[in-house]
This record gives sequence, structure tokens and C-alpha cells, in this order.
Amino acid sequence: MTSAVGVGFGKVILLGEHAVVYGYPALAAALPQGVTLVAALQPGDRGAHGLRLTLELESWRLAVDTAALPEHPVSQALCAIAAELVKGWGGDAPSWSGGAVRLHGTAEIWPSAGLGSSAALAVAAARALGALAGRALDDAAVRAAASAGERVFHGQPSGLDVALATSGGAGVFERQGGLVPLPLPRLGLVIGHSGAPRSTAAMVARVAERTAGDRDDVRLRELGQATARGLSAVAARDLPALGAAMDAAHGQLAALGVSTDRLDEMCALARGAGALGAKLTGAGGGGCAIALVPPGASALAAAIEAAWQLRGLDTRRVELGAG
Ligand code: MEV
Repeated sequence: MTSAVGVGFGKVILLGEHAVVYGYPALAAALPQGVTLVAALQPGDRGAHGLRLTLELESWRLAVDTAALPEHPVSQALCAIAAELVKGWGGDAPSWSGGAVRLHGTAEIWPSAGLGSSAALAVAAARALGALAGRALDDAAVRAAASAGERVFHGQPSGLDVALATSGGAGVFERQGGLVPLPLPRLGLVIGHSGAPRSTAAMVARVAERTAGDRDDVRLRELGQATARGLSAVAARDLPALGAAMDAAHGQLAALGVSTDRLDEMCALARGAGALGAKLTGAGGGGCAIALVPPGASALAAAIEAAWQLRGLDTRRVELGAG
């Protein structure tokens, strides 16, 4: 095989970011969009010191060559992913080992925006490299390889982003037990980009500092309770109650110092326009806010988008859940 394709999904956290790092459950869903990569062997181009990987993602204006920029975090992540794959094969070297592979493709989610872009990239790379080697990778092997890349980007991530980027769908994620699929009721989300990039590692470090790493910190406990109320709301297919839990979660995330004035304003505008609930999603400190609307409520979704777009912000809509 001389070329192969891999896909990883983006994700949106409805409830439980940051608290999930401390062992609380999070409710999250994969986005229909993500990252698609084609891996192609570059015949004749032998890596001078082992495997050479290049990555081009035009929509993120990202071009990396592990030989030219070995210290670049994306280079290090790609090398970590490849090394973890080979480790999983018991050191049995794949066809591309010691050669050169070009990864190129498309990304349909914003980078560094709280939508799991790095996990989607890592999963797409792991799948594409695995397929290029002609090896069947189960989800556990994809998660192991992609997590090696995510650790380069984020230190010690909970694993939520990689789990959803791999499996798609929706579910409840816990650090110990992983992702348990949970069908969502049909719902609409408006997603808006605050315009500011953010660093997951910096925001996770801020929460650790504010809580002194104490799982029993009142704000983390409140986040855990908001998630529990949200899960009951999902079971009862009660979207207003889910929205109320999202509003409460945003308040606790703000109290932990991971919201911004712009994210607070976006949530207030969305609620003012009639959203059932609104919150930041992902690590915060920038990135995206989400607003919950009933399925098919296109006039309401359009009003929220208009309120955000008037502030010059990018928006998009998604419908999740199966009814
Ligand atoms: C990042 O998408 C969500 C955080 O909870 C970090 C993590 O789960 O690793 C902030």
C-alpha cells in the first residue's frame, strides 16, 4: 500500500470539562466534523535518521517536517504517535519505518478552540499510519497511539478528547472507566468562536493552582453536580433542564478562572436571544462557547448566530442526538 486515509472527530463538551481531570464524569459528544489525513509513502526519500514525517493541513496553515523542525510540538507528537504504533506491534517494523511519509488532508474544525482539534489530528494520523502499514488497528490501539501525541500537546489529558475523536458518538467519560456511550436526545447547538486561541495545558494548570489540586474544591464539586443534573435531564429528554445545568456549569468554570469577558458576554447574548443554556466548552481561556437550542429551532439558532456575528465572531450550527 502506498497511501491510506485516517479520520478523527472533533468534540464538544456539554458538561464536565476540568472536573473530569479530577475524576468527575463529563458529558460530551463527537462532532460530525474533524480531521481527515492521507498518509503517502515518499519513495526514494529515506529519513536520514529514521522515519521522516511531513504534515500539511492548509486550513490550519500548518506545515511541519519532522526532519527540518524536530522540536516543533507537532513533529514531536507525530513521532510519539509513530513510536507508540510500532511499540504496539511488538517492535515489528512497518513498511514506512526508516522511510518518509507525507501526511496531508483537511480539517473541518477550528484549531485550538476547545473542539478537540489536536486529538482529532492525532487520531487521524494514527489511523492513517496504521492503515499505511497494512495493520488493522482496533480503537484501543488508536487511542494508545493518539494519546502519546496528546501528551506532547497537553501534558496529562484526561483522555476524553481522544476517546471521542476515536469512537464518534456521544457518551459519559470518566478518567478511570473511559467512555460509556450514551444516546443523546435530538438537540441543536450553536457554536461560536471567541476569537482568542487558548492553551489547554495552561488552563488545566490554572485550575490546579486555584483548587490546590483538591478534588473536593467546592467549584469542582458543583461542576460534578451540574453534570449529574445534566445526565438526569438527558435521561428525561428534558432540554430546558440540560440548559440550566449548562448555565450553572459556566458559572463554576468562570469562578475557577477559565472563562473570559468575551465568553461570558457570548453566553449572556445567547441566553438573551432565547438559548436554553450556554457555556464555554473545552478548556476555556478563549476558544468556543456553545448555546443549546431545541432541534430544528432554526430561527432561534439564527438569532444567536446573529448576536455573535455582530461582535465579529465566527459561528456554526450542529444538530446532535438521535431522537
Ligand atoms: C479539554 O478538552 C477538556 C479538559 O477537561 C482537559 C482534559 O479533559 O484533559 C479541560
